[in-house]
Amino acid sequence: MITLISPAKINLFLQILHPRPDGYHELASLFQTISLHDTIEYSLSTQDSLTCTDPEIPVDASNLIFKAVNLFRLKTNLKFNISIHLEKRIPQKAGLGGGSSNAATTLFALNELFNHPLSIQELKSLGSEIGSDVAFFFSEGTAYCTGRGEIVENLKPLPETNLWIVKPNEGLSTPLIFKNFQMSDAHKKNPQDVLNSFLNGNPDYFNDLEPAAFRALPALKTFKNDLKNRGFKTVLMSGSGSAFFCINCTETIDYNAFTFIREAHFLTREKNKWYENKKMLH
Ligand code: C5P
Repeated sequence: MITLISPAKINLFLQILHPRPDGYHELASLFQTISLHDTIEYSLSTQDSLTCTDPEIPVDASNLIFKAVNLFRLKTNLKFNISIHLEKRIPQKAGLGGGSSNAATTLFALNELFNHPLSIQELKSLGSEIGSDVAFFFSEGTAYCTGRGEIVENLKPLPETNLWIVKPNEGLSTPLIFKNFQMSDAHKKNPQDVLNSFLNGNPDYFNDLEPAAFRALPALKTFKNDLKNRGFKTVLMSGSGSAFFCINCTETIDYNAFTFIREAHFLTREKNKWYENKKMLH
């Protein structure tokens, strides 16, 4: 048996460069894993099964965990059955990469269980077949991602940062938000310059998908303004939403004002190890 954590991610900046002929969008983004995480238990068994603490999560073949299991089987030719239990804490339809992280964690776990038949590079490329964000989780937790998100440049950890993840009740669908995106929403910056600002300690937080999300769900703009009025200095939607990450707060936080609010911090992993929850925050 093996038990691993499966961390959420945020996008410290997310710039859309242009739509692509294949239906995806070329982007440039600084991705960061955070301590908010699911926990997944894997045990070899006589048949495949997936159980989850959250009844809203599908536990059939549509779950990215099973996509990861099947791709791993196909690539390695190994014959096995696996029983998996998912303790869900990362909200769905939030832009926090929960499903992608679960898929990456599963590929890593299977590779451990079978004594490393695949290299990290091979796991990364299997991950990219599952979704644009999956390969990122094979970085060490801070990475500059380009292409459709699957070209991952691992970076040194950023300074320790505490944050809050806040999500309204409504979730958002990634394909819908990308469909709503218009090129006029995009910042016309040089993403390499933006990245350098972060690396030099002058963060420039922005997300080109915010206007599309606000058009899809106008209440989201009010939600963001409310967070700012409550004293959060930096408030930015993560990925395609609808969760926000907030950094620095000047007021006492009224935790009861939100249906979902979690304290978190940036998380990184050591090479050849998976992510660990050392500070035991959520
Ligand atoms: O790759 P993934 O399955 O996570 O993407 C979900 C959807 O989000 C895609 O089908 C596409 O509509 C949109 N998307 C995009 N550009 C990206 C990533 C995702 O348009 N870079």
